[in-house]
Amino acid sequence: MGVSWTREQQQVIDLRKRNILVSAAAGSGKTAVLVERIIKMITEGEHPVDIDRLLVVTFTNAAAAEMRERIGAAIEKALEEHPDSEHLQRQLTLIHNAQITTIDSFCLYVIRNHFHEIDLEPDFRIGDEGELKLLKEDVLRGVLESNYEQMSPEFAAFAKGYVSGKSDAKVAEMILSLYEFSMSYPWPMEWLTSGIRGYEIPDVQKMAEAPWMQPLVLHLRSVLADLVKKLRIAHVLTLEENGPDVYEKVIASDLAKFEELAACKNFLELYEKLTAVTYDRLPSSRGFSGDAGKL
Ligand SMILES: Nc1ncnc2c1ncn2[C@@H]1O[C@H](COP(=O)(O)OP(=O)(O)O)[C@@H](O)[C@H]1O
Ligand SMILES: [Mg+2]
Repeated sequence: MGVSWTREQQQVIDLRKRNILVSAAAGSGKTAVLVERIIKMITEGEHPVDIDRLLVVTFTNAAAAEMRERIGAAIEKALEEHPDSEHLQRQLTLIHNAQITTIDSFCLYVIRNHFHEIDLEPDFRIGDEGELKLLKEDVLRGVLESNYEQMSPEFAAFAKGYVSGKSDAKVAEMILSLYEFSMSYPWPMEWLTSGIRGYEIPDVQKMAEAPWMQPLVLHLRSVLADLVKKLRIAHVLTLEENGPDVYEKVIASDLAKFEELAACKNFLELYEKLTAVTYDRLPSSRGFSGDAGKL
């Protein structure tokens, strides 16, 4: 081809036997380079591959059509230079059945050809989004209802922990989002099971060390730091002229307790101090002689 590739383009064209991620602006020559790579693979060396041995996937049908056309044109051009090449002539025929396609059509192609291996009926079809949403909701309802009926101790504990009030809508939502999330992993069940492991905690010490505990402690500490700030402001207010001095002692005592809590570094310390905290009674403001607006 008459194109003179840039150094980066040439690098992409020549790299083999590894994964490559090419990220570049629109019109900068990504497709051109990809086409050139493919051409190289089906023309170079002693045993060039056949075009129908490659899988070329794009996001849109238009991009796939463009790709096929550009590869076809490149093969024709190569044929002009090597009119006797049987290999190139064969490529022109094979390109019609080559897997140059969208990711959706490729998946459909794989399933059409292997439906029996995954126990699928041969007349399966692709459901539309709305249909799938209804199906999922139906299945979810069914799963929840049969679990309510059987009410195993595990499910009872789960429902007690997560169903709030009369509606289990939040639980249903949670199950669905866990499902969607897990399905974005290549091995959803493995991911879910490994998630459960995070909750298999034999004692408080292990809980304090759990990976999910760290962000929780950080959050608690930031809430406590915020409370300390608010209590400090409240304390200053009690000392103002005509301020609610009746509250001064109680707020000073709360402030001291919260400063101690905010200084806790880990869950065990926090747990001990937080559960032991007691509050003094806020005294009555009867007989307060200062500015009532400041009470
Ligand atoms: N090194 C180059 N020299 C000349 N033209 C180039 C070069 N690289 C790409 N092009 C041309 O630039 C245009 C856009 O390239 P294309 O591969 O479609 O870009 P992208 O896929 O990144 O949007 C095409 O006409 C292509 O042939
Ligand atoms: Mg492109």
